[in-house]
Amino acid sequence: MKSLVKKLVEIVGPSGYESKIRDVVRTEIKGLGNEQRVDAMGNLIVRMGEKKKDGLRIMLSAHIDEIGIMVTHVDKNGFARFTTIGAVRPHTCFGSRVRFLNGAAGVIGGERLDNPGNVHNFEQMYIDTGASSDAESPVKIGDVAAFDRPFEDLGNRLISKAMDDRVCAAVLIETMRGLKNSPHELFFVFSTQEEVGLRGATTAAYGIDPDLGIAVDVTGTGDTPRSVKMDVSLGKGPAIKIRDGGMLADPRLVDAMVTCAQKNNLPYQLEILLGGTTDAKAMQITRAGMPAGCLSIPTRYIHSPSEMVDSRDLENAVQLLKSLLSEPIVLA
Ligand code: CO
Ligand code: ZN
Repeated sequence: MKSLVKKLVEIVGPSGYESKIRDVVRTEIKGLGNEQRVDAMGNLIVRMGEKKKDGLRIMLSAHIDEIGIMVTHVDKNGFARFTTIGAVRPHTCFGSRVRFLNGAAGVIGGERLDNPGNVHNFEQMYIDTGASSDAESPVKIGDVAAFDRPFEDLGNRLISKAMDDRVCAAVLIETMRGLKNSPHELFFVFSTQEEVGLRGATTAAYGIDPDLGIAVDVTGTGDTPRSVKMDVSLGKGPAIKIRDGGMLADPRLVDAMVTCAQKNNLPYQLEILLGGTTDAKAMQITRAGMPAGCLSIPTRYIHSPSEMVDSRDLENAVQLLKSLLSEPIVLA
């Protein structure tokens, strides 16, 4: 699991530019499912199993895009100005390294601040690629990059950029590999453009038209010094979402997940996230709507270059999904 996570998180793949990460996922899932395809939005969709008596058509979604930056202008001295892709925050930027799709590297620098205690805003930052002129610059307008940090294994705890949401792609891959028998027709979706507004999951859900939607994504924690008040901690199990900033999870699905965790003696937490949302929101309100919910991986420092998860939460999320999908899900 750890080596799979390392493989997935270190790939550069900001929203809209997921082809590299999609290829890596494709290699990992070779031969799995009855059918694999890539839709017009770049979502990788794997259909697995047939819908039997008591079964449902279920879409599971983990997004493979990540936050990043896009070059807007390269000045005559070679400094590249940039805009953001997804919710990048200024205080995580200065001194960060970035890696472009074409392999070029750079560091984010900033103009002199009148008050050194302030944080640079994006207009005051630039990427220094080592070039001394625009002609020499390895990057041009429209080029995209992601934060560049190596994966770090601290034992149970793992640090990397793009844990959001590549760890959940790893969870789906492991679930697919381990699933023996299911009464359901399953659609595993490695979705695109989540960080810019759930765009891949929106069209994937419309196309698949499932009976039930389950997103797998990261969520925040309340277990660090003076953190937000949130009843989720690292290492205490995957979090079953009750609500977030964009969705009220279907209570029947919440119940089904809780019952499944209890029956199988798996650790779980209940999640209420005040801001942010997931692909589950897109699924819930696509077409005429569908019951939807989310299984979350507790994560610290989300949308920073160094996000932290606990590998036991990943393992337990796989166990929970395998158990959940092996039985009928009663939405009475
Ligand atoms: Co995110
Ligand atoms: Zn995410």
